[in-house]
Amino acid sequence: MSAKVTLHMVSSLDGFIARKDGSVAWMHSEDTYERGVSLSEDEVAEFLKKIDCYVMGSRTYEHAIQLGWPYGNTPVVVVTSRNFNSDKPGVSFYSGDLSKLVNDQLKSRYNNIWLVGGAMLSKEFLRQDLVDDIIISIMPVILGDGTLFFDYIGKEQALHLKEITPYKDGMVELWYELK
Ligand SMILES: NC(=O)c1ccc[n+]([C@@H]2O[C@H](COP(=O)([O-])OP(=O)(O)OC[C@H]3O[C@@H](n4cnc5c(N)ncnc54)[C@H](OP(=O)(O)O)[C@@H]3O)[C@@H](O)[C@H]2O)c1
Repeated sequence: MSAKVTLHMVSSLDGFIARKDGSVAWMHSEDTYERGVSLSEDEVAEFLKKIDCYVMGSRTYEHAIQLGWPYGNTPVVVVTSRNFNSDKPGVSFYSGDLSKLVNDQLKSRYNNIWLVGGAMLSKEFLRQDLVDDIIISIMPVILGDGTLFFDYIGKEQALHLKEITPYKDGMVELWYELK
């Protein structure tokens, strides 16, 4: 399997990935879609075990620390121009050329690299053609305001729809490959 970067984001139907106040209750759905699938905790854990490395922007990192670190001991690269120190195992900080990060440092070491936001860093990855797959999990909600995922990337990009998975809680996961 060749190394690839998957951009994953949870979004509202109107394309927001974060509320203005940063609260995340909207990511939990009380909706029911009978024909949807659901994953057990073991299945989720198995899936997460296959992710070799996470990449994120510094604001996403700061928010993840506040909310309770969900990345365990998996390596995490935080892109920032600031000087951070972290007591989290596996966390490193990167500043500089993103294509060098992906092609020289990450793809030579890891196969399954997940870019997990936020909008600012993801858009830069898309502009520089550093994303292979996009998985977008659309929650059954319209937020009306906040941080948009896909505004003004400044280029057109054809996609191949690889898979659609509807979940019991009304979330729909769309998996695309970039052409
Ligand atoms: N719904 C979801 O799935 C999801 C996923 C992730 C995040 N979020 C939410 O989105 C919000 C954060 O997103 P965001 O777009 O505001 O910020 P972000 O992309 O997480 O972080 C932006 C920061 O990353 C660094 N950065 C970005 N591009 C860079 C580049 N080319 N070179 C060097 N550094 C670069 C800069 O850090 P410095 O300023 O430190 O230099 C920049 O300020 C949070 O509320 C988070 O919870 C939601």
